[in-house]
Amino acid sequence: YVVGVDLGTSAVKTLLIDQAGTLHAEATREYSLYHDKAGWSEQDPEDWVAGTAGSLQDLIVKSGVNPEDIEGISFSGQMHGLVLLDANDRPVRRAILWNDTRTTEQCREIERTLGDKLLSITRNPALEGFTLPKILWVKQYEPEVFARASHFLLPKDYLRLRLTGAKHMDLSDAAGTLLLDIAAKRWSEDVLSAFEIPASYCPPLVEAGGYVGAISAEASQLTGLSSSTKVFAGGADNACGAIGAGILSPGLTLCSIGTSGVILTYEADASADYEGKVHFFNHGKENAFYAMGVTLAAGYSLSWFRNTFAKGETFDAMLEGVNDIPAGSNGLLFTPFIVGERTPHADAKIRGSFIGIDGSHTRAHFARAVMEGITFSLNESIDLFRAAGKTVDTIVSIGGGAKNPVWLQMQADIFRANVVALENEQGPGLGAAMLAAVGSGWYPTLDACGEVFVKRARTYYPNENTSKKYEQLFRIYQQIYTQTKEIN
Ligand code: XUL
Repeated sequence: YVVGVDLGTSAVKTLLIDQAGTLHAEATREYSLYHDKAGWSEQDPEDWVAGTAGSLQDLIVKSGVNPEDIEGISFSGQMHGLVLLDANDRPVRRAILWNDTRTTEQCREIERTLGDKLLSITRNPALEGFTLPKILWVKQYEPEVFARASHFLLPKDYLRLRLTGAKHMDLSDAAGTLLLDIAAKRWSEDVLSAFEIPASYCPPLVEAGGYVGAISAEASQLTGLSSSTKVFAGGADNACGAIGAGILSPGLTLCSIGTSGVILTYEADASADYEGKVHFFNHGKENAFYAMGVTLAAGYSLSWFRNTFAKGETFDAMLEGVNDIPAGSNGLLFTPFIVGERTPHADAKIRGSFIGIDGSHTRAHFARAVMEGITFSLNESIDLFRAAGKTVDTIVSIGGGAKNPVWLQMQADIFRANVVALENEQGPGLGAAMLAAVGSGWYPTLDACGEVFVKRARTYYPNENTSKKYEQLFRIYQQIYTQTKEIN
């Protein structure tokens, strides 16, 4: 067996998978998010460790597996989150997460300081969610805290440190820090020195599939895992989502709706130039890359809607009836900018809207409008890819958006593309398990492993009439941003 750990924003999920790619057990533990001020989003790294340990123990009990039979373990992690450690590897403060938008001022400073180098080295613009602006924020606003720091890690790297005792960062996650020279695959001395960050703060870089050690005696006590289980670095959740969906060769696109939503396309090399309009990161597959547009509040918009208007109901109960509402929700439009937006606006200040409310609308209309608004937002990323000359005709869909057939058909109609659903879709955790499977020597490459592990189920095809209707609504949707920009 291998174990894939998906350290997400709302929960950690662990999967136990065998050599045929069959899921034997899964276990989930949720943890808290702290929003102490508007735009702030933090988590306590200790909650990740405790949640993962509990989840691994549940996994072992549920499956009855002998821990010695778990050959390898690897990780998928929420990206960008800053974990600052002191000289004894203890966090000096809570982690600042990818969806925290307090760092607009630091982003402008990065742009001013680096100029053209920013895009040419890091291949990305300075966005609030990325790690470097968070480092600069702590340096500026909590100097006494920063003075105690001597290393930084990303969320899953901290978790792995607690399991093995060693600090590493894989390239796919390091790519989202703004400190990596993406094409050269090393920490950028130019960027580090421009902001006076000692190189010793940065952990050694490894490939996502790289072997990084064994489970320590202490971690074995905590998790129930055996010290014979090999630990492989793991990757960014979007890279692992892509691996687990078989996005391992050119021409394939991923739609992933978790807390955030992404549209991601495979890039065989670093030559594509999207002028910073979409993110450009190293893949979890060696020497490959991906380009990606991000909707900050995708699943998060639907969770917000449920917590606010359908408290205590399951998603299925809340979404009952949305299929009876016509495409376009009888004139109701939603923009999912409830925590600001990344692609295409890169605007931390914008907020969401419901537009076109009619006295006859029911809660189901609002729920459908939220799903449509999230999908329109993702369609903005597809538009950018198509405008840059990419063909987007087949999209593999994973995450919450792939659990509901109405939403899958909606994606096909709005994206004007064939949308493929997977059998027993497991999200980024499956990609993590594949990294462990290849590392354990079960398959020579991720591609070979994907042939066995990634099982396609149904394809949803766009309906021409519905697509036309959505296209008209999409044009109106796009104007809402411009019209509501000044509200703050
Ligand atoms: C990607 C991003 C999110 C997180 C979610 O740039 O910020 O998709 O990775 O965990």
